[in-house]
Amino acid sequence: MRILLYTGKGGVGKTSVSAATAVRCAELGYRTAVLSTDPAHSLGDSFDRKIGNQLVQLQPNLWGQEIDLLSQMDAYWGTVLNYLNALFAWQGMDKLVAEETAVLPGMEELASLMQITALADSGDYDVIIIDAAPTGSTLQLLSFPDMARWYIEKIFPFQRKTILMARPVVRRMTDMPLPDEDMFDSIEDLVEHLERMSQLLSDSDISSMRVVLNPEKMVVKEAQRAYTYLNLYGYSVDAVVCNRVFPRDLSDHYFDTWKTAQAANLELVHECFQPLPIFEIPLFDQEVTGVDMLRRMANTVFGHHPVKGGHGDPTQKFYAGKSQEIFRRDGQYVLSIPLPLVERAEINLHRSVFDELIVRIGNWKRNLALPTGLAKLEIAGAKYEGDRLNILFTAPDAVEIPAEELRTGRWDNLKSRFKRK
Ligand SMILES: Nc1ncnc2c1ncn2[C@@H]1O[C@H](COP(=O)(O)OP(=O)(O)OP(=O)(O)O)[C@@H](O)[C@H]1O
Ligand SMILES: [Mg+2]
Repeated sequence: MRILLYTGKGGVGKTSVSAATAVRCAELGYRTAVLSTDPAHSLGDSFDRKIGNQLVQLQPNLWGQEIDLLSQMDAYWGTVLNYLNALFAWQGMDKLVAEETAVLPGMEELASLMQITALADSGDYDVIIIDAAPTGSTLQLLSFPDMARWYIEKIFPFQRKTILMARPVVRRMTDMPLPDEDMFDSIEDLVEHLERMSQLLSDSDISSMRVVLNPEKMVVKEAQRAYTYLNLYGYSVDAVVCNRVFPRDLSDHYFDTWKTAQAANLELVHECFQPLPIFEIPLFDQEVTGVDMLRRMANTVFGHHPVKGGHGDPTQKFYAGKSQEIFRRDGQYVLSIPLPLVERAEINLHRSVFDELIVRIGNWKRNLALPTGLAKLEIAGAKYEGDRLNILFTAPDAVEIPAEELRTGRWDNLKSRFKRK
């Protein structure tokens, strides 16, 4: 199964490219779902028909859904929010303020992405294509599993067993709302769901992120930031789609200046994103709506005469760079993450009490969950090597860490807190 996520600045063509990819995948025989997680949905416009909050069949092998934030929110976070509202209200907070306080920024979008796990685990689809919201909110969104974990850890800093045992005693002392069995069940489900989503999206064999842009300076700059950020969060970007390129044979002199500017910007795109493949799409003579136009777009992106599993198949992994790696070198362990294009500002490392490593570079911040093996070691520093950021951990020669401890185990602690007996 493959998950393909398209992101980019507002208006660059994300929805059109997602829909075109979906049409191509379905025609190759893949059972395909295309989801829009952008609250300002326009997937329906691309297919020139109404698509709602339920999956609907659009073509043979092709289903589409425009995800409704509020109902997703209710499905995944409803119980947690109800509890928090009760807790805040108990503390004397105004009801409306309590409701607002409980919802973190980005949580609604996160809930919409959680639909991916449901579809992925249903086994009904070979390809899931995500037409994401414009870059800013998508990036925030993708950093969110980390944040959600942090949030849950902070608001439920107790073990299920402890609370359930202490309940009768606490009851006699205070009328503070306490989480009950149902509550713990739903937190446990939520945490599992988040972990699963995080696994799916950061597994480069399953998920590929693709950045859509136009050959305009501001757009390229934003795409560049998005690329760095996606790498920082450990997601794999395998292609850039450069949309609205003036056709080479455009002869009208009126466009000469535009064409010159575009040529320079196209060069910039190549400088910025090599060695990623860059797919160009011309500016068409009409809007991209309806299946025929989507097919035309797919032909320009992926090529004509596609072969399933080969040429012209959008589910290919177009670039396979390494994401997070851990290796041993000169008496140290190195945690290495790709970090192309970032401005080489000072790297700031901070270790939290929760075995997390907070990496700050200029305005960027990443909360890295350290695998249990590395969490035991001292941090010796960090440095850029090529287009990677390497974080060094002292490991005296005697320290040999078993491979499984070098994998991320961060979610396990949280899960054990809410485990049913
Ligand atoms: N190559 C193209 N040639 C002509 N029209 C295009 C091309 N690509 C996209 N369009 C048109 O531009 C408009 C915006 O495209 P689209 O909705 O795909 O962008 P988007 O990135 O999803 O925008 P938003 O950020 O608002 O969701 C649509 O009307 C679409 O039909
Ligand atoms: Mg769109």
